[in-house]
Amino acid sequence: MNDTRPVKSDSAKAVPTLPDAQTVTSVRHWTDRLFSFRVTRPRSLRFRSGEFVMIGLMGDTGKPLLRAYSIASPAWDEELEFYSIKVPDGPLTSRLQHIRPGDQIILRPKPVGTLVLDALLPGKRLWLFATGTGIAPFASLMRDPDTYERYDEVIMMHTCRDLAELDYGRELVEGLPDDPLIGEIVAGKLRYYPTTTREQSPFMGRITDNLRTGKVFADLGLPPMSPETDRGMVCGSLQFNKDIMAILETFGLREGANSEPREYVVEKAFVG
Ligand code: A2P
Repeated sequence: MNDTRPVKSDSAKAVPTLPDAQTVTSVRHWTDRLFSFRVTRPRSLRFRSGEFVMIGLMGDTGKPLLRAYSIASPAWDEELEFYSIKVPDGPLTSRLQHIRPGDQIILRPKPVGTLVLDALLPGKRLWLFATGTGIAPFASLMRDPDTYERYDEVIMMHTCRDLAELDYGRELVEGLPDDPLIGEIVAGKLRYYPTTTREQSPFMGRITDNLRTGKVFADLGLPPMSPETDRGMVCGSLQFNKDIMAILETFGLREGANSEPREYVVEKAFVG
């Protein structure tokens, strides 16, 4: 016999009402400008660490309001993580910053992007260069065992205005050696070089300036970058990307792509 009892409100709530809906599982506010959140992962979604997807909310006009967001979680994670700026008058982030666990967002399950290991030729050392929320794709790559299988050494360089803005990346990097899944693989291979530009900290200055002066290499005890051994991935503002690309070219590295792997790859940090 058919069950004619009314559907309980709890289960009714869990039924997605948006197209491509995913449910928010946790939200963390790092500063008044930055937050991260995790959502359920569509079963069918396969992606390569470093790629991005379109996510968003339903707009007032009834059309989805979507923006590109790098997936910050690794490919093996059963949930998806994102790291976002809060733009006070930004059409999406002014609303997205108020999401809570249980809310739904729209997620188009079509991952793309150039910050993937396959777009680089094999090498010895992988440099990850980010400003601000540009660390998001690297939060994925730093948690992917494949990164450490391909490189002897991974160097995460992150520049933010102040110390609080480094916290998301710092907590992630500092927690990795104790991670039960990949701790052993990461140990001794991941080096972290955070700098601030507007607050006093142990390491100061823009990544670009510290590369040009050679301070980075002196601090890390490494030789200058070379196309034989070093590979780079870049994610920040347009100007930051341009400036880093010019520096990498002076070391003899060339920009690669999925279709033509070379020595470095670039993507703009999207929102903000
Ligand atoms: P600065 O404080 O000197 O502008 P934002 O919060 O504006 O997105 O910037 C994030 C970090 O990136 C800041 O520390 C900022 O330094 C730095 N930055 C901005 N533009 C560049 C650039 N072209 N090259 C290197 N670092 C940059």
